[in-house]
Amino acid sequence: MDKITLPREFPERVLSWYDRGHRQLPWREDKDPYHIWLSEIMLQQTRVEAVKAYYSRFLQVLPTIGDLANADDELLHKLWEGLGYYSRVRNLKKAAIAICRDHGGKFPEQYRDVRALPGIGPYTAGAICSIAFDQPVAAVDGNVLRVVSRLTADNTPIDSPAYKKTVEESLNAIYPKRAGDFTQALMELGATVCGPNKAPECAACPCSGFCKAKLQGNPEEYPAKTAKKQRRQEDMTVLILSCQGRFALEKRGDRGLLADLWQFPNIPGHLELSEVIRYLEERQILVKDILRQTEKKHIFTHVQWNMRGFYLEVREETERFSWMDPQRIYTFAALPTAFRQFWEEVEHF
Ligand code: ADE
Repeated sequence: MDKITLPREFPERVLSWYDRGHRQLPWREDKDPYHIWLSEIMLQQTRVEAVKAYYSRFLQVLPTIGDLANADDELLHKLWEGLGYYSRVRNLKKAAIAICRDHGGKFPEQYRDVRALPGIGPYTAGAICSIAFDQPVAAVDGNVLRVVSRLTADNTPIDSPAYKKTVEESLNAIYPKRAGDFTQALMELGATVCGPNKAPECAACPCSGFCKAKLQGNPEEYPAKTAKKQRRQEDMTVLILSCQGRFALEKRGDRGLLADLWQFPNIPGHLELSEVIRYLEERQILVKDILRQTEKKHIFTHVQWNMRGFYLEVREETERFSWMDPQRIYTFAALPTAFRQFWEEVEHF
């Protein structure tokens, strides 16, 4: 892939724009590498507004890398509950253990060592090394790719790994002294003025004088769109079984989607009420009362769940499930958003 040449005035313009005002965010209050690392992991695939509260709570409960390395998995899932992509928090713990074992509990500073930690790819390593340690390495995510593709009016699809690598190299070549601020300024520009899913605000952009896409008059046509794959559709029947104020939950398997989290019992396909009752009877679970039926969906990256939920009061607590009262569900069991939607409806009964 051809080298990308970025305008010479680019870093200086973006930095002075950043200096004139940017969002105050909890992870911009200090440069502790643990804090920067945690925030960058949380911010992958998750909006800034959603991350703020999770970030503060996580650090209150686990203020050091040592605390994270020793944290119970159930607690970690609970702290991550609702953020999605739960392998992120499992990798955080694995990396914390590696830092304690290999680096005496102190976050490593060498890019190579940072990159070698579980769950840390080129983007996160670049973000940590530049923001926490002021090293001249880029952190290229979708926002930064959008900025560069517009700046250079380049219609290479931005999901091509070769393009990402080329952008990293072209940015590394122009990194200014204030490396951490430049990384944050690029993220800021790509998240706000040149943000996703809206028309770019070129009138407010420090790069409008030398942005090729703006000069051509069609910045919104960059980055080039690639055809999205259709999500696989999965129908399922979810059973919200209650017995005198306690609810049946079970733990998911230790592999695949939402591994090791809690769920309401469920059956593949959309069953009718009579089929559900028969299904339960075959397992010696007798339905005492039929409370409600609802439909919910949940969209993951590659699959969509179309869920039909039955709320049923049953005669007794059978051993095949863990029966929990609401307090235990609040404080202990990490119930992913797909299932939590049903729980939220219970709360409003
Ligand atoms: N998105 C990813 N990293 C970010 C950061 N450090 N600040 C704001 N938005 C971000």
